[in-house]
Amino acid sequence: MTESLPVRIFPDRTAASRTLAEEVAALVRSINDSGRPAVLGLATGRTPLPFYAELIRLHREGKLSFARVVTFNLDEYLGLPGNHPESYRAFMQKELFGHVDIPVENIHIPDGMVGPAELEAHCAAYEEAIRAAGGIDFQLLGIGRTGHIGFNEPGSPRESRTRRVELDPITRQDAAPAFGGLEHVPEYAISMGCGTILEARRIALLAWGSAKAGIVREALTGPVTDQVSASFLQDHADATFYLDSEAGAEL
Ligand code: GLP
Repeated sequence: MTESLPVRIFPDRTAASRTLAEEVAALVRSINDSGRPAVLGLATGRTPLPFYAELIRLHREGKLSFARVVTFNLDEYLGLPGNHPESYRAFMQKELFGHVDIPVENIHIPDGMVGPAELEAHCAAYEEAIRAAGGIDFQLLGIGRTGHIGFNEPGSPRESRTRRVELDPITRQDAAPAFGGLEHVPEYAISMGCGTILEARRIALLAWGSAKAGIVREALTGPVTDQVSASFLQDHADATFYLDSEAGAEL
């Protein structure tokens, strides 16, 4: 089958994560050398874990500093405080930020506790902060079973921006074990939009394991459609899929 964007298939997730982490470290160094902070868009979920482990390793080896890195996370569950163990803020602290030299003021994650009256302004301010930082140099993505990037569930328009989104039943089901039951999974989230994500200058989507093989094939070889928001990446000038052999098995 022909894919409409570059796909790199690795023997396993560690090899893929190591390669990408080295590429991102080189990008951060070259942007910092040019005299400005590097702006990274970050993702959560199980998929980025080996990648974050590699970034931490590079940091410990003295090959990557986050002192001049600014980050924007894709999304956050609505209704969860930052100290809730399943909040994406807690996840990022545990899996990356707590292990590297990033200044706390450089970290941006939507606030899951923002009230309905402030929600629109909060989302607009998030977009404005990305613009003020100069836009996202590199955006990391996983892919959900519904083909979503961030929390852009089926029906999310190509031009969508940071906003409140309703989680798909499949997405909530996938999150249920971590929350100790479906009834504890939030129904809404704040997510960067497809339009926000597609403005990143470079994008890497990671996927591991056979459970992702079908949706990866659809995103890469199916029609560009808002029913599979990852398919919008087909039209991006610098997006690459990093897969292990299982996630790439249906290509
Ligand atoms: C959630 C996140 C996505 C992530 C997806 C897949 O929906 N908002 O950013 O890509 O889960 O999760 P996992 O990597 O655990 O398969």
